[in-house]
Amino acid sequence: MIIQTYPDQESLSRAAAELFARQAEEAVKLRSAFSVALAGGQTPRRTYEILAQPPFREQVDWEHLHVFWGDERCVPPQDPRSNARMARRAWLNHVPLPPSRIHPISCKPNPVAGAREYEILLRKFCAGTPPCLDLVFLGLGEDGHTASLFPYHRASEDREHWTAAVYVPAQSLHRVTLTPAFLNQARVVAFLVAGAAKAKALQEVLQGPRNTRRLPAQLINPERGELYWLVDREAAGQLR
Ligand code: 6PG
Repeated sequence: MIIQTYPDQESLSRAAAELFARQAEEAVKLRSAFSVALAGGQTPRRTYEILAQPPFREQVDWEHLHVFWGDERCVPPQDPRSNARMARRAWLNHVPLPPSRIHPISCKPNPVAGAREYEILLRKFCAGTPPCLDLVFLGLGEDGHTASLFPYHRASEDREHWTAAVYVPAQSLHRVTLTPAFLNQARVVAFLVAGAAKAKALQEVLQGPRNTRRLPAQLINPERGELYWLVDREAAGQLR
């Protein structure tokens, strides 16, 4: 596990873009393909914007990139809460990435069917043994959730499926999420965590007792890969 602290969200976001570019270059050189699963929420937006601008725009071999998502809210595509909408507007609409290589999660005809469809897509893409997905970006919620793996939800404990449909009562929102069983098959997982509001959750996840039902982010640890925590100084404020 590698924990890197940055002075502010801008330098954290730039570091995340540099990690993406490094991983992309290595993956394309070794395997002529690079696959990433994107985090939703607000934190990764700046990283996506930086990847859409020079030098990264020219540096990355977009032709070989496959884009997946770690989770999605079950809302219409143009809804401001959509994770795919945020990534397209901040980044994907501004780089020469073939639409056939962008794989958004759908909740149609219903979240359970959407989750199963996405699992079929992932199993086809990952045919064969792990590792699969070169890079996964994840965020951290103030309650210790990651992707749409929320405290005390059975999805976090699912060892068989790679995706799950989740209902979040507090948000009256259905979601589809990748599960730790799949996320932990990645070559690199990078959490991006910024802001003082995350300091308590970050300290508990990284330095508190292991309590994966209450803190699902503690379940994330790639079996054959590397785990990065890219955090800004505010989020690291309670780390010993
Ligand atoms: C989502 C995300 C979620 C997010 C955290 C942090 O769809 O909501 O996948 O896990 O990463 O809630 O969100 P912020 O970056 O907005 O703080």
